[in-house]
Amino acid sequence: MKLGKRLKQIASMVTAQYDHIWDCCCDHGLLGAALLAHNAAPNIHFVDIVPELMHQLENKLHQFYPKNTESNSRWQMHCMDAKALPLQKFNGKHLVIIAGVGGDLMTDLVREIYQKNPASDIDFLLCPVHHQFTLRQQLIQLDCSLLNEILIVENRRFYEILLVSTEPRPLAKINPIGSLIWQSTTPEQKKIASDYLKKTLDHYKRVQLSRQYDVQYIIDAYEAVAIAAEKTESASESRIQRKP
Ligand SMILES: C[S@@+](CC[C@H](N)C(=O)[O-])C[C@H]1O[C@@H](n2cnc3c(N)ncnc32)[C@H](O)[C@@H]1O
Repeated sequence: MKLGKRLKQIASMVTAQYDHIWDCCCDHGLLGAALLAHNAAPNIHFVDIVPELMHQLENKLHQFYPKNTESNSRWQMHCMDAKALPLQKFNGKHLVIIAGVGGDLMTDLVREIYQKNPASDIDFLLCPVHHQFTLRQQLIQLDCSLLNEILIVENRRFYEILLVSTEPRPLAKINPIGSLIWQSTTPEQKKIASDYLKKTLDHYKRVQLSRQYDVQYIIDAYEAVAIAAEKTESASESRIQRKP
């Protein structure tokens, strides 16, 4: 099956060399299967908590990617809670991808995976549904650093996609409301950023009016955003470069 815009964008952000890529909360496994097809890493792991989904996916993978083919990538199934990802059992550099689940759950998953695998070299590629601010606060608390972040719209829904490293780097701090996502390279991207900013501000203003939570500090942060329309070259240069 063809990947949609969001999954295609996530797959395109896997550019570094990893020994293990973990497609967590993989559901149908589309993303992991695309990475497998492109030999994105020597080991692709599919993780989901629902056994039926995993059985169906395993059958398909056996059909399309038999384990005795010449493919450079191998695949493994893990039917489990992604919180308990056994990264320490596997040597090398890991990319943990979590997409398509709520930002609150994702925040818990990232914290647990990070804390349970202190010796592992991990990057996270994250695309939450809502609660991006909470997730960013957690990443900041864990002292993660930003490698890249992208804002896209698919089926009129906005998605922030963050690629972060667990290696702290003072010059690549994660901003609680995003940084690169507000730097447009095209008029189309500028419109996406403005629409997203308006939608996000409207949301937090409604929360503030409900008086259930005090989110004025979040509103203030988003109100200070100035959407920059940059020249293509300077914006692409501003993407944070990974260390070789
Ligand atoms: C909407 S699908 C996301 C599919 C795909 N990642 C995407 O972005 O399109 C969410 C999946 O997360 C799985 N899931 C939810 N909580 C999980 C957890 N704690 N550990 C592993 N999988 C989980 C569900 O079983 C479901 O298949």
